[in-house]
Parts: sequence; structure tokens; C-alpha cells
Amino acid sequence: MDSQRKNSPIGVFDSGVGGLSVLRAIRAHLPNEDIIYYADQARVPYGARSLDEIRSFSEEITDFLLARGAKIIVVACNTASAAALSYLRKTFPDTPFVGMEPAVKPAAEQTNSGVVGVLATPATFQGRLYASVVERFASDVIVLQNTCAGLVEEIERGALDGEKTHQILNSALRNMLGHGLDTLVLGCTHYPFVIPLIEEIAGNHVRVIDPAPAVAKQVEYRLETIRAKSKVDNEGTVQIYTTGNVEKLASLLTKLGFENFPITGIKKGQV
Ligand code: DGL
Repeated sequence: MDSQRKNSPIGVFDSGVGGLSVLRAIRAHLPNEDIIYYADQARVPYGARSLDEIRSFSEEITDFLLARGAKIIVVACNTASAAALSYLRKTFPDTPFVGMEPAVKPAAEQTNSGVVGVLATPATFQGRLYASVVERFASDVIVLQNTCAGLVEEIERGALDGEKTHQILNSALRNMLGHGLDTLVLGCTHYPFVIPLIEEIAGNHVRVIDPAPAVAKQVEYRLETIRAKSKVDNEGTVQIYTTGNVEKLASLLTKLGFENFPITGIKKGQV
């Protein structure tokens, strides 16, 4: 691996701001890496779209990130991972990809009650990836699911503690809690931004699993494998691209607890 590649950025994408929960974990774990982040906010949410459509958006975004020198692509979106990860790996055979997979395995290992819950979008539940993790790792536990309709939109609006957000999470969790849930998997990268509310509703006997730290370790592992880990000592930079509104995203970043990363507005489908 030449030193130029080592200093290339990590490309991260999501339908919106959800993948920033993964970016946060990558920065905590790999602080010297530069990151370019693509938020497809003109087309968020992805969750109710067809798998074909999500696949084509994901391919377009991968082209965009590769054109800006990304040395690895992190699909920081469960929905895009479910719909497109294996397709992307086939279409870009020379590019390393790290994707999201619902953390059903650790949940099944950690539950005491034998009841785990998964919150994710409809497309994530439809994808083959989800069926396969449940089949492989959760045959001995009860797995409850909920799609939290409207929650991604509320988080994109910055309504982390709003009335509608309360309603959506209350109705999603009430039924699961009634069945003895003690472990909850966040199968959508937007949801870690409402962990305080989830904990308030679910109570402290429910363990909430955010896979972002494990994904950050996986990114490091893949970079080491291809010898592309940054060797610089200075703090890495973050550049954000959005197909949505730049000013709105800037104020949302502050709400979500991020510094003022530079944001560039782009057209959807632009490469
Ligand atoms: N962050 C995406 C995920 O992890 C959001 C889904 C959406 O856009 O509906 O699934």
C-alpha cells in the first residue's frame, strides 16, 4: 500500500444523519483518519423504498466517494447494507466495504430473559441479511421486531425528544416490554441518537445494543489488512456532503452534538 493511499479518506454514507452515529465511533477509535461523509437527505428515508432503488442509490454514492479518493467505504446504514452490500462488493471488487448488520448475535448471547427486540426499517427486515443473522444466531431466543414508522423523519428534523418521537417509541417498546424484553438491538443507524429516550421508556433493566463501536473496530481491522491505516499524528478531518439543505444540516449537527464540520451541498445522483 503506497503512503498516498494510507492518507486517503474513509468514505461513509447513509440516507441522512444516521450514519453520523457510526462516524462518531470511527473518530473515537481512529482519530487520525480523514473521513468524507455522504448524507442522501434529498431521498431520506430509504427504509420504505424498494431494494432495487436503494441498490442504485448506493452504487451512485459509492462512485461519488471513490471519485473523491475513498480507500474504504463504510455503508453506515442498515437499510443500504441489507439492500446493497453484496451487490456493491460484486460491482466494486477492488474496494473494501464495511457494512451494518443487526446485532442479533450479541443480543442472543447476552439476553437473560430469552426475549430480544430489534428496531429497524421495513427494508432491513425484508433483506436476506436479517433473515440470515436470525437464522444463524437466534434460534434459541424469541426475536420481536418493530419498524418504528416515522422515527427516521423525526430524527432528521432534530426532534430527538419531541411528542411524536415519544409516541413512536412508546408504541414500539410497550409491546416488546410486555413480552419480557431485556435486550434491544438498534438496527438503524439513526436510532442511537434517541438512546436517552429509549432508556427512559424501557427502563434500566433493558440493555440497548448500538453496533457502532464494533463497526469502528471492523473498519480498523480492514484497514490493517490492506495496510491502509493512516500513519499521521494529527487529528483527521471530516468533510460532509449532503443532497439536502446545507443550513438545516449545519444546525442539526449541533443538535446531535457534533462540531461544525464543513458541509458541501451536491445534487442527488452527482458523481
Ligand atoms: N440510517 C438508516 C438505517 O440504518 C436509515 C434508514 C432510512 O433512511 O429509512 O437503516
